[in-house]
Amino acid sequence: MPARLVVLVSGSGSNLQALLDATTDPAYGAEVVAVGADRTGTGGVARAGQAGVPTFVVPVGDFAARAEWDKALTAACAGYRPDLVVSAGFLKLVGAAFLAEYGGRYVNTHNALLPAFPGIHGPRDALGYGVKVTGATLHFVDAGVDTGPIIAQVAVPVLDDDTEESLTERIKVAERGQLVEYVGRMARQSWTVTGRKVTVL
Ligand code: GRF
Repeated sequence: MPARLVVLVSGSGSNLQALLDATTDPAYGAEVVAVGADRTGTGGVARAGQAGVPTFVVPVGDFAARAEWDKALTAACAGYRPDLVVSAGFLKLVGAAFLAEYGGRYVNTHNALLPAFPGIHGPRDALGYGVKVTGATLHFVDAGVDTGPIIAQVAVPVLDDDTEESLTERIKVAERGQLVEYVGRMARQSWTVTGRKVTVL
């Protein structure tokens, strides 16, 4: 049986698209069973619709308390019985209920080489700092902001004439390849986490 993936998005969904493309090959070992978003009108949800994948939207603003949103998001995911939940440009921090259910099998792709430049402006912050190498990090999600154990990293150069846009796009190309490779390996095989050290077998 292929592993069941729920992918969470807030934006254009190019990482999601890479996973959708990969899962058309049965040998990949995983299928996207649902795509969830925290807002309406995202490119990611539109891509899922085009691929015939069920979608759900759980906006924070629909709930009086953040914890209630967190429980609703957890329940929406649980309805699809995921083996792995993938944050692919999902711009919300999940809370205790979500982590109680999916901690240890909730992964996020971040567009910087953690622990450098966490948060939502990874490429901008890397450019502003003047680093010569940056990249993307796939990591487990814990209660912090981009602080969980690191699964994989890929580096890209920062070029002298880079803008935030050009650097963002260079990172995204490498990021998509890494996401597809490691989610597939995690789906087909297994992994260990010892302290902060992750080994994908
Ligand atoms: C990715 O680069 C991710 O690292 C960042 O947002 C971007 C999402 O892009 N948090 P997309 O929606 O997958 O195109």
